[in-house]
Amino acid sequence: MIDLMVNGRSHSVDADPDTPLLYVLRDHLELNAAKYGCGLGQCGACTVMIDGVAAFSCVTPILLLEGRKVTTLEGLGTVEKPAPIQQAFIEEQAAQCGYCIAGMMMRAQALLQKNPNPSDGDIRSTLQPHLCRCGTHMRILKAVQRAAELMRASPNTVKGAT
Ligand code: FES
Ligand code: FES
Repeated sequence: MIDLMVNGRSHSVDADPDTPLLYVLRDHLELNAAKYGCGLGQCGACTVMIDGVAAFSCVTPILLLEGRKVTTLEGLGTVEKPAPIQQAFIEEQAAQCGYCIAGMMMRAQALLQKNPNPSDGDIRSTLQPHLCRCGTHMRILKAVQRAAELMRASPNTVKGAT
């Protein structure tokens, strides 16, 4: 058993310590926002935050996570009360198929928690590890800038639900 803290809740998980966090999120905890893309740390679809830092959950074994805080997209907001980053992606219609979007949002969230006023260059370089096969990059850029504006307007929402 390994104890994991995910989205502010503690879970005892019965899985091999080498199991990638992505599999535990999806198969044990029914948190399906993070997606399997490459399984190799090369596409960004599986990105979550660990102690506020963006991380590829497909290559992060759960044995590294005891005592650390994992945040997934589900931990930021809800359908009824989306977090600023989620609201901004909806308003900018930044998703096409949506497969890359949860990962994009999590790395953008980690950026905005550290840097509330990023330049376009900051956003582009931060999201560089992420692939979007649909080519919605320009809308994603606009969405992250809009999220930054929303967060600056309501600073108490910056850290989402967790
Ligand atoms: S599935 Fe993790 S980086 Fe591609
Ligand atoms: S919206 Fe389809 S992969 Fe990015």
